[in-house]
Amino acid sequence: MTAPAPRRSRITAVTSGKGGVGKTFVAANLAAALARLGQKVLVLDADLGLANLDVVLNLFPKITLHDVFTGRHALQEAILPAPGGFSVLLAGSGMVEYSRMTPEVREQLQKVIDEVAPRYDRVLLDTGAGISDVVLYTVSLADDVLVVATPEPTSLTDAYATIKVLATTQGRREIQLLVNQVRRPGEGRSVRAQLQQVLDRYVSPSLETGVRLTLVGEVPADGAVREAVQRRQLLLQSQPGALASQAVVAAATRLLDMEST
Ligand SMILES: Nc1ncnc2c1ncn2[C@@H]1O[C@H](COP(=O)(O)OP(=O)(O)O)[C@@H](O)[C@H]1O
Ligand SMILES: [Mg+2]
Repeated sequence: MTAPAPRRSRITAVTSGKGGVGKTFVAANLAAALARLGQKVLVLDADLGLANLDVVLNLFPKITLHDVFTGRHALQEAILPAPGGFSVLLAGSGMVEYSRMTPEVREQLQKVIDEVAPRYDRVLLDTGAGISDVVLYTVSLADDVLVVATPEPTSLTDAYATIKVLATTQGRREIQLLVNQVRRPGEGRSVRAQLQQVLDRYVSPSLETGVRLTLVGEVPADGAVREAVQRRQLLLQSQPGALASQAVVAAATRLLDMEST
C-alpha cells in the first residue's frame, strides 16, 4: 500500500461577523492577486444560501455545486476558469435548501473540498457571515481563517463575536484579519489593536493559550470597488492601479510572507 500523496493545498476561509463587509470582493480579488504571485487558486462559493460570486465575476454557470451535491454532474464539470487566472466552484444563487447544515450537506461539502484541495496551492472558501451552523461548519473545514471587518462599530462587535466563537468552539488561536473600507491609512492597525485588546481581556483568560490576531492588510474604501461590482468586473483587472487593488495585492503578498516563515 502506498501512502496518500501529501496535501499541498492551504484552505483559507474568508468569513466575517457582519454581512456586506466585502468578503466576496476580497475573496475574488485576493484570488486574482495570489494567482498573479504564482499560486494555483480555487475559490469556492461557500455562501450556499446567498451565493453571489457568480454575479461579481459575471459568470453564468450551467453546472454548479448543487449539481455535484445531487450527483447529476461530476465535480470537474462544475469547476470554471474565472477572469483573473483562478478557478471557481460556484454555488448558484437561491440554494435555499443549503441554508441549513444537514448531515448530508456536511458530508457533501467535506467531500468536495477534500477532492479539490490536492489540485490547488490554495482554496479560498467565500463563506456567509455570522455564526450560523452553516458558516461555522464551513470555516471548520479550513486550515486558516481570514476575518474581514470594516471599522464600523457594528462590524467590530460582530467580528469580535465571531472570533470568540471560533476560538472557543474550534480551538482557533491564530486568526487573520483584513480590515476593509478603511477611511485613513493605519486604521487597520488600530482596528486590530482594539479587537486584540478586547480578546485579551474577555476571551483569552479562559483559554490556555490566548487568541492572536494577525493583520493581513487594510483596504481603503474606494469608489472603484463599487464601480467594478456594478460592471461585474474584477477590480484587479479593470482598475489594477486603484488604491483598493494595490491594497489587495499587498495583502496577498503579506499572506504568502506570513506563511513562508
Ligand atoms: N473597499 C471597498 N470600498 C468601497 N466599497 C466596497 C469595498 N469593499 C466592498 N465594498 C462594497 O460593499 C459591497 C458588498 O461587498 P461583498 O463583497 O459582496 O460583501 P460580503 O460578501 O461580505 O457580503 C460591494 O458590492 C461593494 O459595493
Ligand atoms: Mg459575499
